[in-house]
Amino acid sequence: MTMREKIEEAAARYPDQRSAIMPALLIAQRQHGYLPGPVLEEVADILGVERIWVYELATFYTLFHTEPVGMFHLQLCDNVSCMLRRSEDLLRHLEEVLGIRKGETTPDRLFTLSTVECLGACEMAPVMQVGDAYHGDLDIARIDALLDRLRAEAGHPAAAAAPPGE
Ligand code: FES
Repeated sequence: MTMREKIEEAAARYPDQRSAIMPALLIAQRQHGYLPGPVLEEVADILGVERIWVYELATFYTLFHTEPVGMFHLQLCDNVSCMLRRSEDLLRHLEEVLGIRKGETTPDRLFTLSTVECLGACEMAPVMQVGDAYHGDLDIARIDALLDRLRAEAGHPAAAAAPPGE
């Protein structure tokens, strides 16, 4: 099924096409990996809505990426509950071990690092979202183990050095 067909199918469930922008953007992002301008315009054209509405949603929600991101998008919450549980230390650690600053992608395009507003999971602060999964009660050891697991999942050579069970 083409992206257009998937969007049209999803949009048929909504009486107002403006309400279908979010699901349409999710479909487009799954298809293209991110949402560059021409894709946003195509989504608007398929739905027959104003392009500005599509741009507004795509740039407002951290769920959507208008720039290319790595295979794993690490979205660390830096809102109050997570900040009180030392998310800043985790950010510094991630920047150090990945060799990038927040907002950047590793040269091997494996990881993109971002900070985001409250993920709605404050009870397990500090929290980081990776793809659709939430990882909570994080500390530096858990971050390192998570990075190793993700590298292994991607078949990254650095994962081979990780001890078993990590
Ligand atoms: Fe981090 Fe709510 S403040 S999940």
